[in-house]
Amino acid sequence: MLVLAIESSCDDTAAAVLQDDKAVLSNVISSQFDVHSPFGGIVPELASRRHIESVWPVVSEALHTANVQLDQIDLIAATRGPGLVGSLLVGFTFAKGLAMVKNIPCVGVDHMTGHLLSPFLGEEHPDFPYAALVVSGGNTSIYKVSDQHTFECLGRTRDDAAGEAFDKVAKLLDLGYPGGPVISKYAEKGNPEAIAFPRAWLAPDSLDFSFSGLKTSVVNHVNKCRQKSLPLNIEEICASFQEAVVEVLVEKTLHAAKEHDLKTIVIGGGVASNKRLRQVMEQRCSQDQLAIFIPEPVFCTDNAAMIGLAGYHQYQAGNTISPDTDVYSRSPLH
Ligand code: KG4
Repeated sequence: MLVLAIESSCDDTAAAVLQDDKAVLSNVISSQFDVHSPFGGIVPELASRRHIESVWPVVSEALHTANVQLDQIDLIAATRGPGLVGSLLVGFTFAKGLAMVKNIPCVGVDHMTGHLLSPFLGEEHPDFPYAALVVSGGNTSIYKVSDQHTFECLGRTRDDAAGEAFDKVAKLLDLGYPGGPVISKYAEKGNPEAIAFPRAWLAPDSLDFSFSGLKTSVVNHVNKCRQKSLPLNIEEICASFQEAVVEVLVEKTLHAAKEHDLKTIVIGGGVASNKRLRQVMEQRCSQDQLAIFIPEPVFCTDNAAMIGLAGYHQYQAGNTISPDTDVYSRSPLH
């Protein structure tokens, strides 16, 4: 079965072609950094407009790269939510229109299920059940994944997502957008213990996250330096901030695995590209004798291949959509 997948939940327009759940024949991503970087974050209205311009060229490129004609496609899978409604509507409506005109079955995929199943896009696959941390610009949540269809949210952020905190701190320091890659670059040269930024553990057994206090603490530190005309040590701030985020993400994920007797950890989402997070998670998993699966960076960030994979399984379970199926901004998986 040839699957055409479309993803447009936030600021990336993406399309992919898969052969069943086995092979990714193409995976095209068109980013919008140029549109949003002057604003230090995503402007929803501008994101929707760019999706409208990009969706057909990106789908065409995905078909061309896979060497597949539209008439050969057996299934269309598109992200239905969660995300920015205006962005979602572009990709989802495009997919429904294409499916109707070409008489191809269509499935609406929850973006989170794509991230949760993304390690299956690699060569080696995790065994079910596993604990999965999805950490991106819009989400920071831990799930128990029991099979391709059964996901239980064990904890999630109560305020900012971790990627959002990276982006806001980068904006404060005038480092540009997106903040994650540039902060991690500066962090490589800084001492992670230089500044004691707070870790929000919340209640002793809580698997929820909170990053707004950490963000405020960075703001206070920067303001204090500026008021006293002290030089800002960007490398130290970045390293200490990153360490605070990484420590909480890692320890809470390991705690979730222990509480729920899960022997395997999976990480997905844009922040999973963070080298320090990957390094500390790998070290801690090895200490606790847990298996760890982190997809390659192109499958961590928003991509359509993961939507095709999750959509394939959804189709096998008989979940197709009708022309009046709508998008949603909040995931029912929360
Ligand atoms: O999953 P993703 O591509 O899409 C959205 O959630 O929109 O994640 C993007 C987020 C941004 O907040 C970005 O700053 C963050 O992932 N990010 C990183 C790194 N690379 C991207 N955060 C920390 N370290 C990185 N290396």
